Amino acid sequence: MKILVIGSGGREHAICWKIKSFSQDYKIFAIPGNGGISFIGECIRKDISDFNGILEFFEKENINIAIVGPENPLAEGIVDFFVEKKCKIFGPNKKGAKIESSKCFAKEFMKKYKIPTADFQIAESFDEGIKMIEKRKTPYVIKYDGLAAGKGVRIIENFEDGKKYLEEIFIKRIFKGEPKIVIENCLFGKELSYLIFTDTQTYIPMVPAKDYKRVFDGDLGPNTGGMGCYSPPFYFDERLEEEIKKKIVEPTLKGLQKENIDYRGVLYFGLMITKEGPFVLEYNVRFGDPETQVILPRMEGDLVEVIESIIEGSLNKIKIKWKEEKSLCVILASKGYPGEYEKGKEIKNIDKVKDVILFHAGTKIENGKILTDGGRVIGVTGIDKDMRKLRKKVYKAVETIEFEGKHYRKDIGIEE
Ligand code: AMP
Ligand code: GLY
Repeated sequence: MKILVIGSGGREHAICWKIKSFSQDYKIFAIPGNGGISFIGECIRKDISDFNGILEFFEKENINIAIVGPENPLAEGIVDFFVEKKCKIFGPNKKGAKIESSKCFAKEFMKKYKIPTADFQIAESFDEGIKMIEKRKTPYVIKYDGLAAGKGVRIIENFEDGKKYLEEIFIKRIFKGEPKIVIENCLFGKELSYLIFTDTQTYIPMVPAKDYKRVFDGDLGPNTGGMGCYSPPFYFDERLEEEIKKKIVEPTLKGLQKENIDYRGVLYFGLMITKEGPFVLEYNVRFGDPETQVILPRMEGDLVEVIESIIEGSLNKIKIKWKEEKSLCVILASKGYPGEYEKGKEIKNIDKVKDVILFHAGTKIENGKILTDGGRVIGVTGIDKDMRKLRKKVYKAVETIEFEGKHYRKDIGIEE
């Protein structure tokens, strides 16, 4: 069976690795893929926004299923495009993807279906925004409505900073799409990534994960795409899971059904666990990155079978088993990330690491050498029953791998 994975990050490498490690009979293709994926599949240089080009390749190679990694092609309707041509693709359609691609839509949806989320207002002009923030107590949060690769959310501590951000959005137009914002209360607590597989009628939860978004230890410095992850979080237990299912997951699926959204794919709930219980910060319509790098190594069985059943709308026939072991992933990043960074540094000692899985993100192979090719370079993942042993083996590998300017967080998986 031939599988095409669309995307180029650690998430996509983890998807390819999971499929291939279940059965070598799967043949993997990736558009555009990365250095790590090229060891287990064929990487094709194509733009992920070129839907015609992707479909042409899919048909020419007789691919069985395409799996979409990132949110942008989903928001732009790649699934609708494939479905219209009767080609099998995994991910929600454009209507479903709106729950991530418009924060205003997501917030209105949560309000309508009484899903716990921070109280909010929506502004569509600078003047409207100013009036709202003049009356707001700090801190509060301003979120750009559209996709912004994690750069659209700012926690505002004083009026001047709020006004500056409104200027950037409405006057300087730093984001390409329509200027529109959500202003919401700041929530306090512990963040949790809770992902499910769903065909809207049924769902199967994945194991939960904690993502470390800030660049430096102790949650300092700017936000990144994620510097590490572990699963399950120390603060997660059955009672919390029941609450998440009853107050958040099930009302969300009911809401999708009521809105006639036929959602098939992964649905990711970005949660804040507060003293008053779990609140939704955001929905994502895809696997998380780096979450996938700790979730899939804990999954037993065949991911392709799960994906096929979702596409067919028969997830109710599937059972998934998860390993008892814990998992942990540390991201090695390039100097300067999440700001400007250099590429093309040689990565050494990859062959010397043991007992871990390496998920490549920003890497490429050139003249037989593995070179850095992005901000997040490699995710080092381990699994083990014992958290202390797990941290030790992952960090041993993290220290062994070398490239100029390598940096990483040292506190992934330490109990807060
Ligand atoms: P989002 O893209 O909406 O998940 O926001 C990105 C990050 O900003 C989240 O992972 C949180 O760390 C933070 N954040 C978003 N909304 C809030 C909020 N209402 N209160 C506190 N932190 C928030
Ligand atoms: N790790 C955060 C995300 O995938 O959106």
